[in-house]
Amino acid sequence: MAINKLPLLLLLSVILVFLNRPVLSETDEEDVLFTGINSYRTTQNLTTLNKNENAECLADGIADQFKNKPCTNDTGSATVPGTEPQFANYPQILAKCRLNVSDTRDGMIMPACVPRLDSSLVLTNFTKSQYSASLNDSKFVGMGIGKEDDWIVVVLTTNTPEGSFSEDTDTKHDDDDHDDSNGFTFRFGLVNYMLIFLFSICLFLY
Ligand SMILES: *[C@@H]1O[C@H](CO)[C@@H](O)[C@H](O)[C@H]1NC(C)=O
Ligand SMILES: *[C@@H]1O[C@H](CO)[C@@H](O)[C@H](O)[C@H]1NC(C)=O
Ligand SMILES: *[C@@H]1O[C@H](CO)[C@@H](O)[C@H](O)[C@H]1NC(C)=O
Ligand SMILES: *[C@@H]1O[C@H](CO)[C@@H](O)[C@H](O)[C@H]1NC(C)=O
Ligand SMILES: *[C@@H]1O[C@H](CO)[C@@H](O)[C@H](O)[C@H]1NC(C)=O
Repeated sequence: MAINKLPLLLLLSVILVFLNRPVLSETDEEDVLFTGINSYRTTQNLTTLNKNENAECLADGIADQFKNKPCTNDTGSATVPGTEPQFANYPQILAKCRLNVSDTRDGMIMPACVPRLDSSLVLTNFTKSQYSASLNDSKFVGMGIGKEDDWIVVVLTTNTPEGSFSEDTDTKHDDDDHDDSNGFTFRFGLVNYMLIFLFSICLFLY
């Protein structure tokens, strides 16, 4: 009986390993770009940019607006300056992130569209496009990155009051963020436990 269970337990382990994979790679493109931009800053003899949670929230919101727009040769980093799309619901996106126009004015929003977010193309879309001038600007001190489908958005922040991206009120948003990521892991965890449970029942019947 104990020997019969061994192959099933092995199968179970393999399944669990595969199930855990998506969790590990979940924020890869954003992390790769974050590191890439800071390496670029270092080669330009500039300070690295710190992660800014509010800018990240805004970047997520902007990426969400872009998600159904196709990549073309005049979208994203190839946009002619001054023709960037204006979103009617921009104030709502700001409000959702507890931000306000007056403390985001000096910031910089840079959307890029790259099929499947190929990581080498994503980085050059920022460092070798019109955006490089902003990445090479010492006034920026922080950044947040968001992505949705083929779109990835970088938001830069300054240390002036007009670009600080400081929150209007308390720090509730931070907590929301943590809940979200935990929720994601938790759901995967739950699936794993349910599988173990089902397999246990099978083994029991077996
Ligand atoms: C960065 O600084 C180093 C040493 O000070 C210098 O050799 C290099 O040319 C600088 N690079 C840029 C991009 O300014
Ligand atoms: C973009 O592509 C269109 C056709 O696909 C072409 O006519 C246009 O010249 C291209 N623009 C640039 C800036 O490459
Ligand atoms: C933004 O915040 C500033 C200072 O916190 C406040 O004076 C201003 O009224 C706010 N603006 C909006 C549009 O909420
Ligand atoms: C940006 O990404 C597009 C793919 O959407 C690619 O065709 C283009 O060459 C990239 N631009 C740069 C400057 O890397
Ligand atoms: C970055 O900025 C410095 C100083 O403003 C300038 O000398 C350098 O050429 C810039 N590099 C790029 C790649 O734009």
